[in-house]
Amino acid sequence: MVLAWRNHPAIRSYMLTQHEISLQEHRKWFERVQHDKTRQQLIVREGIEPIGFVQFNPVTPRGIADWGFYARPDAPKGSGSKLGQAALEYAFKDLGLHKVCGQAIEINAASIAFHQKMGFVEEGRLREQQRIGEKYHTLFCFGLLAKDWQAVQRTKDITDASN
Ligand SMILES: CC(C)(COP(=O)(O)OP(=O)(O)OC[C@H]1O[C@@H](n2cnc3c(N)ncnc32)[C@H](O)[C@@H]1OP(=O)(O)O)[C@@H](O)C(=O)NCCC(=O)NCCS
Repeated sequence: MVLAWRNHPAIRSYMLTQHEISLQEHRKWFERVQHDKTRQQLIVREGIEPIGFVQFNPVTPRGIADWGFYARPDAPKGSGSKLGQAALEYAFKDLGLHKVCGQAIEINAASIAFHQKMGFVEEGRLREQQRIGEKYHTLFCFGLLAKDWQAVQRTKDITDASN
């Protein structure tokens, strides 16, 4: 299921590696990462329905990790927000991370807006860092600190309580 999502054109075209991944390559990757204690691969579900995939790497106590994610290609609008909320809550509360970092290719308007919506701050741009075919694309770098995430959650709680 994860391989089919990852290979879907709507997802693959925004990843840093864009070739179609074979089952053999996927199995090899999973063999490697599932035993690596510094990595977390997660399927996010809403009830019993899987809505997307998220990974954090490297995961260390009070550490700084990169995240990668995608919503299930046919997931309804709003799934990304649910996935992001659940994954970041897990990252900061359960994994105890200090900071989560993300990168988006300049052509990925959805991911750039998504990071901003989730409270990430743009921390820089790597100019013409990503080659796709003959073209070089800029990467947007985002960061979210645990304390900023907690502050946003407290504001949400107050808003929810007053509604
Ligand atoms: C990024 C992704 C997870 C968003 O999922 P989604 O289900 O569309 O998310 P939501 O409907 O909850 O929207 C959340 C926010 O994302 C942004 N967004 C989503 N689709 C967008 C689009 N087509 N254009 C611009 N912004 C968009 C908006 O900020 C939106 O908030 P809003 O609806 O309040 O404006 C999904 O598009 C995806 O999996 N993309 C392919 C994989 C990918 O790019 N992964 C990230 C690599 S860096």
